[in-house]
Amino acid sequence: MRAMRAETFSGYQGLKLIELPKPAVTDGKVLVRITAAGVTPLDHTILSGKFHGSKAPLVLGNEGAGVVEERGGTDFPVGSRVMFFGAYGAFEDGTYSEWVAVRKEDLCLIPDNVDDVSAAGIPVAYLTAQVALTLAGFRAGKTVLAPAIGGSIGNAVTQLARALGAKHVMSSTTNHAKAEQAKALGFNEVIDTSLEKLGDGVRRITDGYGADIVIDGIGGEVLSEALGVLALGGSLTTLGYSASRNTTIDVINLIVPQASIRGLNMFAQPKAAITNAWKVIVSLLKSGAIKPIVAKAFPLAEAAAALRYLVEGRPFGRVVLTI
Ligand SMILES: NC(=O)c1ccc[n+]([C@@H]2O[C@H](COP(=O)([O-])OP(=O)(O)OC[C@H]3O[C@@H](n4cnc5c(N)ncnc54)[C@H](OP(=O)(O)O)[C@@H]3O)[C@@H](O)[C@H]2O)c1
Repeated sequence: MRAMRAETFSGYQGLKLIELPKPAVTDGKVLVRITAAGVTPLDHTILSGKFHGSKAPLVLGNEGAGVVEERGGTDFPVGSRVMFFGAYGAFEDGTYSEWVAVRKEDLCLIPDNVDDVSAAGIPVAYLTAQVALTLAGFRAGKTVLAPAIGGSIGNAVTQLARALGAKHVMSSTTNHAKAEQAKALGFNEVIDTSLEKLGDGVRRITDGYGADIVIDGIGGEVLSEALGVLALGGSLTTLGYSASRNTTIDVINLIVPQASIRGLNMFAQPKAAITNAWKVIVSLLKSGAIKPIVAKAFPLAEAAAALRYLVEGRPFGRVVLTI
């Protein structure tokens, strides 16, 4: 089978399209013919040699969509369409390939109203967003900030919190054109940080109240500014570092509102957290209350260009490989 493998973790030139044997299907696994793979910043981090747990050579791809070919049983009959995320592409070979033997517990049926390309970009973003909101104690009426409306986490948190009845769901972008695009797509509480500081925007939108919950995948200055708008008893969840792993915080921003900061690692979630998150996500997908956004699809052979487009082009929406 064709697979896009990182032979070394040395940047884009380490990626090679190779032939590998079709994976063996052992107990508890289901053979899935991959149709589309989500491209994530983690793939780029691994390829750059900056992820602690991965070993080369490694077929990249942490999430994907496809069709069950063998051993799905009655839950996932042969021919059913599935999407999944897990250790793939990080600790074992991943979805940048024609077939993957997927642990049954990682699979979720794709609703009929969602196509494979869109589905491939759902698991990581929406599971992370839903788990983060749940751990932060989200419920209807809360005020949420999730920076980067065009990014996968920022957009998924925004869509989920809005669908689940948040009072305000604010996001941001550093790019004026993306702010306009967000408005055209109906995201009405996006702070254009080329025109206004993140904190000023949050205070304007919430009449000075601030955010009960911040879910941040950006890090750097965005994280430290977001800490400055936490409402009384609020929390900030840090889960990524698209801008930077380092920042300086003013502890007064935690002390005065008795706020808290926590980290989130999706590789450390109990099975029940993922199962519960899938239930919410699937129901909202079926009703059309959330709509995944795909910026661009690339063929498997252009995986390096796809990764470059994601990280350097900073598109609005997901980047997906068609297999
Ligand atoms: N902990 C976990 O388990 C977990 C799970 C999923 C993802 N993550 C991590 O979460 C992070 C976000 O993932 P993602 O998929 O949402 O990324 P993404 O789709 O690539 O979006 C990142 C966005 O961040 C903004 N950005 C980039 N550089 C910036 C800078 N220097 N200053 C301000 N904004 C900047 C850009 O938005 P604008 O151009 O609009 O400003 C960009 O579109 C990544 O580090 C990812 O690895 C972690």
